[in-house]
Amino acid sequence: MTDQTITSVSREHRLIRPSAEFKAQANLGSDATYKRLYAESVNSPEEFWGRQAKEHLVWRKPFKKVLRWSPPHAEWFLGGKLNVSENCLDRHLGTARENKAALIFEGEPGDVRTITYKQLHFHVCRLAHIFENMGIGAGDRVAIYMPMIPEAVMAMLACARVGAIHTVVFGGFSPEALKDRINDCQAKLVITADGGWRRGKIVELKANVDRALEGAPSVQTVMVVRRCGNEITMVDGRDVWWKEAWLGAPNTHEAKGFDAEHPLFILYTSGSTGKPKGVLHTSAGYLLGCKLSSQYVFDLKENDRYFCSADIGWVTGHSYVVYGLLSNGATIFIYEGAPNHPEPDRFWQMIDRHGLTILYTAPTAIRAFMRWGDNYVLRHRLDSLRLLGSVGEPINPEAWMWYHRMIGKKRCPIVDTWWQTETGAIMIAPLPGLTPLKPGSATRPFFGVVAKVVDERGREVPRNTGGKLVITKPWPSMLRTLWGDDERYKKAYWSEIKDVYFTGDGARQDEDGYFWIVGRIDDVLNVSGHRIGTAEVESALVSHPAVAEAAAVGRPDEFKGQALVVFVCLKAGHTATDPLKEELRSHVAKEIGSLARPDVIRFAAALPKTRSGKIMRRILKEIATGGIVKGDTTTLEDFSVVASLQAEE
Ligand code: WT7
Repeated sequence: MTDQTITSVSREHRLIRPSAEFKAQANLGSDATYKRLYAESVNSPEEFWGRQAKEHLVWRKPFKKVLRWSPPHAEWFLGGKLNVSENCLDRHLGTARENKAALIFEGEPGDVRTITYKQLHFHVCRLAHIFENMGIGAGDRVAIYMPMIPEAVMAMLACARVGAIHTVVFGGFSPEALKDRINDCQAKLVITADGGWRRGKIVELKANVDRALEGAPSVQTVMVVRRCGNEITMVDGRDVWWKEAWLGAPNTHEAKGFDAEHPLFILYTSGSTGKPKGVLHTSAGYLLGCKLSSQYVFDLKENDRYFCSADIGWVTGHSYVVYGLLSNGATIFIYEGAPNHPEPDRFWQMIDRHGLTILYTAPTAIRAFMRWGDNYVLRHRLDSLRLLGSVGEPINPEAWMWYHRMIGKKRCPIVDTWWQTETGAIMIAPLPGLTPLKPGSATRPFFGVVAKVVDERGREVPRNTGGKLVITKPWPSMLRTLWGDDERYKKAYWSEIKDVYFTGDGARQDEDGYFWIVGRIDDVLNVSGHRIGTAEVESALVSHPAVAEAAAVGRPDEFKGQALVVFVCLKAGHTATDPLKEELRSHVAKEIGSLARPDVIRFAAALPKTRSGKIMRRILKEIATGGIVKGDTTTLEDFSVVASLQAEE
């Protein structure tokens, strides 16, 4: 760490205060309340969390002890028993919410379904019976490989109901990736669909499952939802249609209580090296983290219609489509397909059509909308929206301001939420209505979160200095281990600094205590002894009118340690020329300082991305170094992007 650390987006000084109107109706309307609750949550965590757990969750058996912490293993709400699906469904029955929409679904072809809490409960009960009849019960693993359709949500909740552990595998993953995940956790049941709609084409999910299962002997049963009607093969004695199983099942199902620490799900996520890690989350602590953060960060109201554009294959879909929202009795909106099908205004159309009030999406999507042009937005009213959210990567101030102006019409607060698959729930985020916003900052820690920016030896660094983002105290929704690999769990997260959770992210805290996340530490470069955040360079580049998207990586350089190579996608109407390259280099130098002037600029038609939209810098680093792309590319959305970048060299 050097004194000359470049602090991410350090030129951003705008402060956007909540409107009086929003503030007046906010769930937590005053800064004093935040400060009081936050102080209590970190000074007396057991009292704070004990109270929240009693207030927010429905227990079958009360817990005896709030926390047992034997680093790095935490157990929360010991002795307590509950059922997660009951907490998301049954608790709303017999109340005014019973006939409220739990879920509104729009398929890519335009089909719409609305499912009330009562109906969702009914479906999940039947499915729970089906599982039990198949011999699926507490602790068994179930793989879910589905499009974004209501049955995916039902499948997750039915697993929770019978105590089975789900592992949702994003429908865009290859058969190979699916096979590895099934094998790692030895799933007995796979739930899938014949196909799913994506840009007017059918994603052949069932065919992929068939291929994956050639090398996955643990699977005994495959349940198939008919979605697209495409032709598939049903294997006798192994495959069953969802509908056929469903028709014979009883209507009610008595939910059993499970231990607070009963495993709820495994979710595979990429590490910086090696095979994907099976992040394990358990029941009560996870659910509490999701419920509380949903209520406060999204300022949930009874009439909200909440749209999170994440697929349930990612943690965002787990926590902020399913568990956090349904436990609050909210109405969720889910959409099956691509945001630009049939036209780039699909989201805006759906927001108007369904009167959606909250939109939670990713910066990468926001930049795509910017690139597609304002006209697609301007032809829609968007007047139902009252709150916007961002997640997944640092949001560059330009995208933030566009989101604020074009989508939120300057009326909607933006909650930039920092968290990870491992943290289970939102960790750093504004509370809308009370936190003054700074474009590009995730602002302040949520209740119970003790976040610090530290140096190599774990000492807190002064304000406005970059360092490693760590969490120093356990929190209820934290991961408990990595499935089948506790050693890797200890090593990956708790060994950097003893007994402190290392996030893998770099950050700085500003003079107001706001956190600015730079990005993964492995994406932070050292150029001539200066620390340069790739996110920072990218943020600078996309602030140039010609640039749609950019990715910066390091390349070994004998003089500078690392040289800065950037890949740039231009907006429509701009041409890749040498003078433009020079202009962009100067632009970055102007925005950050000449030490950040890129050594190489490469124009690209597209950047290699994971299916969740994260730029795969590892691959760009390999291309920048002139090497052949090695290692795991199974998470890549489109390999041809890599091929064309390599061909250019
Ligand atoms: C990594 C976690 C959390 C759900 C989606 C991603 C980056 C996430 C932000 C944010 C800056 C962010 C971090 C983190 N990240 N949200 N608001 N600002 N960076 O989950 O795949 O586990 O990725 O995403 O680098 O470590 P994930």
